[in-house]
Amino acid sequence: MVNTSVNLCGITLQNPVIPASGTCGFGAELAEWYDLNLLGAISIKGTTLEPRFGNPTPRIAECPNGMLNSVGLQNPGVETVAAEEIPRLKKHYHQPIIANISGFSIDEYTACCERICNSVDLVELNISCPNVHNGGMAFGTSATEAARVVSAVRKVCSRPLVVKLTPNVTDITVIARACEEAGADGLTLINTLLGMRIDVMRRKPVLANKMGGFSGAAVFPIALRMIYQVHLACRIPIIGCGGVSSARDVIEMMMAGATAVQVGSENLRNPLACKEIIENLPLEMEKLHISDLKEFIGIIQ
Ligand code: SIN
Repeated sequence: MVNTSVNLCGITLQNPVIPASGTCGFGAELAEWYDLNLLGAISIKGTTLEPRFGNPTPRIAECPNGMLNSVGLQNPGVETVAAEEIPRLKKHYHQPIIANISGFSIDEYTACCERICNSVDLVELNISCPNVHNGGMAFGTSATEAARVVSAVRKVCSRPLVVKLTPNVTDITVIARACEEAGADGLTLINTLLGMRIDVMRRKPVLANKMGGFSGAAVFPIALRMIYQVHLACRIPIIGCGGVSSARDVIEMMMAGATAVQVGSENLRNPLACKEIIENLPLEMEKLHISDLKEFIGIIQ
């Protein structure tokens, strides 16, 4: 019998596996495939203060071992998410819920957080969306701006606050440390890498927004490297994210320093991915002679 449970910012997860925000809607999309109660937690679709239609289409481009998206934070707005989507999810789901929030100003971030935080267990502050102007990644690529927004949201947030970081920076440890010093309780890394594809027949970018965020199996080694660096630089827990597609990937990310692990693009390729990873995790642990997963967090120095 192996122990897969972990403690994330004071919250016990029965296992470390979490569908990443934007890859499971508000839960209903995955609930069609399996009982969500086997998850460690769920990170629901990115939410903003006002409803958003998102970017023009096409918004998705396929790539070898990955994909580009430029969704642009499409969502029905925090009022609908808090009043309708989260209660709907809670009817059949009883594990921790993570709200992923975005904004275009510090006031928007704080107002969004205030409206949603009491309905969830943990708030993930997205300062890393590469697909919007004047928001998202603009906060996450400057240590000063990152600290300003984290400090403001921390003051109004009644739940543990985890900050989702962008890999599109020179040194992610500088941003990570700024967030930790400003009061973040944890960090999620990484969001997508800014990328581009061109339709050579049409002589045009594939994405209407020209550029988008690259994710999928190809980014796994980059995510792993950044988790390792940030684990050495910070004391707060890390949720690893980026190219995870197997139970062995989960263990590898945890050895690099992740306390929990999000599965993103793989959910879009295989909606059963999280279920299969959770079922395989004890088998992989046995193969690797691991009886308690949390003892292996950050063992690589
Ligand atoms: C999007 O909605 O454009 C993706 C969200 C993100 O990358 O944070």
